[in-house]
Amino acid sequence: MNKAKHIAIIMDGNGRWAEIQGKKRVKGHEAGAKVVKQITTYCSANKDIERLTLYAFSTENWKRPRLEVEFLMKLLENYLKNELATYVANNVHFEPIGDIKAFSKSLQQTIQDVKEKTAHCDGLIQSLALNYGAQDEILRALNKIKNSENDITEATLLDALDCKHEVDLLIRTGGDHRLSNFLLWQSAYAELFFVDTLWPDFTTNDLENIIIKFTKIERRFGGLK
Ligand code: FPP
Repeated sequence: MNKAKHIAIIMDGNGRWAEIQGKKRVKGHEAGAKVVKQITTYCSANKDIERLTLYAFSTENWKRPRLEVEFLMKLLENYLKNELATYVANNVHFEPIGDIKAFSKSLQQTIQDVKEKTAHCDGLIQSLALNYGAQDEILRALNKIKNSENDITEATLLDALDCKHEVDLLIRTGGDHRLSNFLLWQSAYAELFFVDTLWPDFTTNDLENIIIKFTKIERRFGGLK
């Protein structure tokens, strides 16, 4: 049976969730942050899951209205500060991916702080993709290794990426069927699950059901059975 060692999630549908209830879009992000905590806690208790990578802010999300971007930044900073104790209590190591230099000094400091203070945790690795885009990640990686004397190989490129681990199971909530520039290299052989549920409504039960389906898939990685 397959093990979903690395689960990646595109958390989509926060805005629509809020709009359906006549609330401002940012209320959807607030509700979404609570689900981040629930799903992370669930994964930390499942010993088969080694990594959970969540798409929290893309390189394209800067195009959103200024107030929404500012809200997301504040929400992220508060989340990391408030949840540090939960990370440690659940033995979760926080490992951001993405180019965080574009964030405020204070947010960068908070990200660094949580990373350092959870460095000793050897359970689940939770990665938040922050100012992340797979094309940007691949370009940054190529620029890091372009002056090497040797040919670039799959292994050397992978090693230069922010996320060096192939994805087993990639889930997108919110009804759309696209990857939106998320973990393109690492998801080459990922099993893809697209669900209509909006992220704030996504439950640990939903995740469990997807994992059960995933474990039964025959994964061939391009080979034969
Ligand atoms: C997509 O919903 C979601 C985002 C752009 C950001 C994800 C953020 C969170 C889940 C909350 C904060 C996260 C942390 C880690 C504290 P959307 O706004 O695109 O939804 P829509 O498609 O309905 O408009």
